[in-house]
Amino acid sequence: MTSSVAIITGASQGIGQATAVRLARDFSGLALVARNRTNLEQTAALVHGAGAEPLVIDADLSQAASAQEVVGQTLARFGRIDALLNIAGAVPQIDLFEMNDAQWDSGLALKLHGARRLTICAWPALRQAKGSVVLMSGNSAVFPKAPYAAVGTINAAIVALAKAFADRGIEDGIQVNSVLPGPVMTGRRQSYLQHWAPLHGVSVAEAVERFPKEAGIARYGSPDEIAELMAFLVSPGARWLTGSTLRMDGGEVKSI
Ligand SMILES: NC(=O)c1ccc[n+]([C@@H]2O[C@H](COP(=O)([O-])OP(=O)(O)OC[C@H]3O[C@@H](n4cnc5c(N)ncnc54)[C@H](OP(=O)(O)O)[C@@H]3O)[C@@H](O)[C@H]2O)c1
Repeated sequence: MTSSVAIITGASQGIGQATAVRLARDFSGLALVARNRTNLEQTAALVHGAGAEPLVIDADLSQAASAQEVVGQTLARFGRIDALLNIAGAVPQIDLFEMNDAQWDSGLALKLHGARRLTICAWPALRQAKGSVVLMSGNSAVFPKAPYAAVGTINAAIVALAKAFADRGIEDGIQVNSVLPGPVMTGRRQSYLQHWAPLHGVSVAEAVERFPKEAGIARYGSPDEIAELMAFLVSPGARWLTGSTLRMDGGEVKSI
């Protein structure tokens, strides 16, 4: 394995943690970014065990100064950036007619602007390395629903943002793609189901059981399955894949 470095946001749990552990097989250094340092240390131990050198960076990516901090610490430790995986996201799951401006701003500040700022800050290093970027969207981008409209709206914006970065990436030698997972069982999916349950007049346990049937899928996805897709997207084999939106959803989206 040659020396190569990736930054993974949202690495403290869920899909981001699974992606970090998977990428430890392909990269020599991994910068692990989220707010919860204790959880990040757990990811770091798993990454170390899987063969890569971890760098824990506890940062709130909704804050403008964090992007420079993350890139600065990564370059100071590893000297290069080959891949950036923007996975962190925590858009409020609130009804369209109840959600206030502050709640919209907080969703945008992390998932859209956090990813945008970090990608821009890392861009010169990515250009030097001829690197890759992945932006995490979600299936709700293609079917926004009123009870959690911001999630779909911001995920659709992420797809467009990735496309704009990919456009610039053609001349700069950087590939950029977005990923749309369907329902993946994580802490965030559990909180979604807690919201979904009363809307459908069922208990949370019943919601966990019923949701996949209503979504038209056989089962929930696992974070490890999305991690495999993320690893492929930043691998040499995917080099000509850019400006694309990759869906991994167990068949949830029925349209072509
Ligand atoms: N699970 C699904 O079904 C599903 C479906 C479609 C799309 N997605 C997307 O996939 C991504 C990961 O989701 P997940 O299900 O793995 O969720 P999760 O388990 O809740 O993980 C979210 C991650 O984001 C980090 N984060 C939250 N706020 C942050 C902030 N202000 N600054 C830095 N990091 C922050 C969290 O770490 P800290 O709390 O430690 O900061 C955590 O590592 C999200 O963008 C989500 O929208 C998930």
